[in-house]
Amino acid sequence: MTHLRCNSPGCASTLELHAPAALACRNCGDLLEVVIDRPQHSPCEVKKIWRDRRAAYNSLDRSGVWRFRELLPFEYAASNVVTLAEGNVPLVRGHKTAAWAGVTDLSFKHLGWNPTGSFKDLGMTAAITEAKFTGAKTVACASTGNTAASLAAYAARAGITARVFLPAGQASPNKLAQALDFGAEVVQIEGSFDDALNTLLAESGTGMQFLNSINPFRIEGQKTAMFELLEQLQWNVPDFLVVPGGNLGNSSSFGKAFAELKQFGFIDRLPRMVIVQAAGANPLAQMWTSGTTELQPVASPETVATAIRIGNPRSWKKALQAIHLTNGLVMDVTDQEIGEAKRTIGRDGIGCEPASATTLAGIRKLVAKGEIPPDAQIVAVLTGHALKDTDYIIHSHESRAGSI
Ligand code: F0G
Repeated sequence: MTHLRCNSPGCASTLELHAPAALACRNCGDLLEVVIDRPQHSPCEVKKIWRDRRAAYNSLDRSGVWRFRELLPFEYAASNVVTLAEGNVPLVRGHKTAAWAGVTDLSFKHLGWNPTGSFKDLGMTAAITEAKFTGAKTVACASTGNTAASLAAYAARAGITARVFLPAGQASPNKLAQALDFGAEVVQIEGSFDDALNTLLAESGTGMQFLNSINPFRIEGQKTAMFELLEQLQWNVPDFLVVPGGNLGNSSSFGKAFAELKQFGFIDRLPRMVIVQAAGANPLAQMWTSGTTELQPVASPETVATAIRIGNPRSWKKALQAIHLTNGLVMDVTDQEIGEAKRTIGRDGIGCEPASATTLAGIRKLVAKGEIPPDAQIVAVLTGHALKDTDYIIHSHESRAGSI
């Protein structure tokens, strides 16, 4: 039976799948995860089912999350699934970007081309569907902006009240505008994202369901990005997968996707996963470099990539497990490197928000250091759309006026 389990190997306590408000293990406080059963069909058959669904007309099969439901918690009537046709985003080949980074085989998996413009929609369709299934009246999250926009949209579709906690003055106005447009109640908190999340978590027992990425259903939806990526690569595993790191839910979800695909025989090797943080919000990169075993939060995170201005990422243990599983690595890049990478992605006709550009900046650095061979097959995950932070674009071009 698909169920919840504590992520700490030493504890591994279990809970039933729909246990109310289950975010943390009641024994040890660690995060929970969904344990998926081996599919009834062979990997070959399941791959064919997934591919065939792309040609279907019903909304469940058309969703780029739910068409992978053999490896998801799925006990819902089709009519109760809250979907906006998320997923099914392209893999776009890099040209100028590849030359700039010094590599020959670079592609972007653009999760910013989702309904609300970020990868959050993949997790939100799963988490809101579960919230609706368990009768939630109000859902809430703390957010640097994208989670808020996505939660607001999916909650509106489900007819559930949305409450979003944002660090005052720090989320991009575009993202705030989305949350307002979708009818969310916006609570502005003085301080950082970490303060907003602490405030939210202190409200437990008030009947709200929390939909930050510590919610295991969010992780389930987000992991489908890797199923879709490998399908697009005809199940040929790339050498490197490069992903931005903030609260570290996304990298955790990708690690879980790879672990399951390998365990169930869909793939026989894993890509090396690289997590790239912004230098001013880099607790995992610091931990990686120093070789310590406990995360030291960054007290006052600061970066132009506001989406990942996070000092105390909650999913760091899961993300680190993913790095160990894939023989990956963690690194950071400066705001200047992010700016250069972002402009280059723009010049390739692709575009993304600053947090996503950490990936290209990181690739360039690793190639220069000889840690990524120039002929490696590399996939960078772009997490947010270019229009998510238009202030950043205008300001960065104004300050470079004359050099465009
Ligand atoms: N890229 C973008 C565009 C994001 O919005 C986020 C996180 C990340 C990368 C990092 O992902 O947290 O899973 O490591 N945004 C969250 C939010 C925190 O509230 O929108 P992560």
